[in-house]
Amino acid sequence: MNKNLINDAKIVLNNNFQDKGYSIPCKGLYPFQWKWDSGFIAIGFAHYDMDKAKKEIETLLDAQWENGFIPHIVFHVESDTYFPGPDYHQSELHPLSNKKHPSTGMTQPPVTGFTIEKIYEIAKDKTDGLEFVKRNIDKVFENHRYFYENRDPQNEGLVYIYHNWESGTDNSPIWDDIWKTMNPPTYNIKRKDTQLVDPSQRPSNREYDHYLHIIEIAKKHNYSDEKIAELSPFLVQDPLFNAMLIKSNNALINLYKLIGNNEAKIKQLEKWQEKSIKSFNDKLYDEELGAYIHYDLRNEKPLRFVSSSSFSPLFAGIPSKERAKRLVTTMMDKFGGEDLYLCASFDPESERFNPKKYWRGPVWINLNWILYYGLKDYGYNEIAERVKSDSIELIEKSGFYEYFDARKSIYKTDKGGYGGGNFSWSAALLIDLINN
Ligand code: GLC
Repeated sequence: MNKNLINDAKIVLNNNFQDKGYSIPCKGLYPFQWKWDSGFIAIGFAHYDMDKAKKEIETLLDAQWENGFIPHIVFHVESDTYFPGPDYHQSELHPLSNKKHPSTGMTQPPVTGFTIEKIYEIAKDKTDGLEFVKRNIDKVFENHRYFYENRDPQNEGLVYIYHNWESGTDNSPIWDDIWKTMNPPTYNIKRKDTQLVDPSQRPSNREYDHYLHIIEIAKKHNYSDEKIAELSPFLVQDPLFNAMLIKSNNALINLYKLIGNNEAKIKQLEKWQEKSIKSFNDKLYDEELGAYIHYDLRNEKPLRFVSSSSFSPLFAGIPSKERAKRLVTTMMDKFGGEDLYLCASFDPESERFNPKKYWRGPVWINLNWILYYGLKDYGYNEIAERVKSDSIELIEKSGFYEYFDARKSIYKTDKGGYGGGNFSWSAALLIDLINN
């Protein structure tokens, strides 16, 4: 059974890999290279096609900006199935943007550091694996420097995101509170996504007005980080984003130690790391909820909602043992009922929970993958195994969808897989989970 599933996963990945050396997340809906997708995809490839795994990452890093920034979408080709494309984003406005590759002027969770460590771990040929690490590690280090020097205005060790599309959890109900503080103009745009998938599963046009408005402000100031920090109505310290950065810091420390002769960089990383972990625990943990939460830096207030991002710090070794216990209790109480697959992307007990809508409730395989390893690291093997077998079961039942209904009852009559089909990271991470 698993063997057939792995074969199917490989077919999805192979079909989504492009001649230019990168993978699209899926056909139609997402026709370019996405930053964090790339990392997850490369981990899948590493299990059976190391050349593609390495290429995926090196193609992404080729689009890095001169200030270390790595964009969220790299527009390697033209496409008429996606809005907003390169003409809208205009990355060339930033003086240090990449001269070869047009991109967006925003980023995504920093998964590249732990991705290259994973690729090295999976590699059978360690000499070649280490060469790959050596070729790329400084670029990732520079990316982390970019974050700490440009995205942390109060010098807390916590970096901000300035757009919901930077979070990766694009349409989370958490952002609703921020939309309430804004009143953008109505932009008359031609959505493409709603022509490709059921519009009821996608954001509304009004929500898109908010998304575009933030970009308009950033573009008006040529994507200046300073100006964005000063003016963006969306400025959030996101636990998932920061947990990925901390996990990747750790990976870079391990890898620099392996390479040797990199004392200064290791020291710098350890300094960032210590400060980040401390602030993360001080500022982003909500005692009453028993979970990590987002912080709205623009309006200086915590956003008190529990989502799958709340548990991602397990993956980066952030909570103490006691705190991890509380966190897992919260997760199982709210998300772990027998009628539900683990792990819904948003609190199933909340009135904002929507089981079919993009990041407002459905299960995502990449978050499950993050939780699986996090739970294992803290010794919650049984729950980790449930996350894994739930992920496999969802894909077996529905196919390699972008996201899945968390309600088990649905699958008696429905497919339960939503969004894009033949979705790359669902395939890639399934391969990694089964191989683990
Ligand atoms: C959606 C997701 C985002 C992902 C992108 C490409 O926008 O919200 O996390 O990177 O699709 O798959």
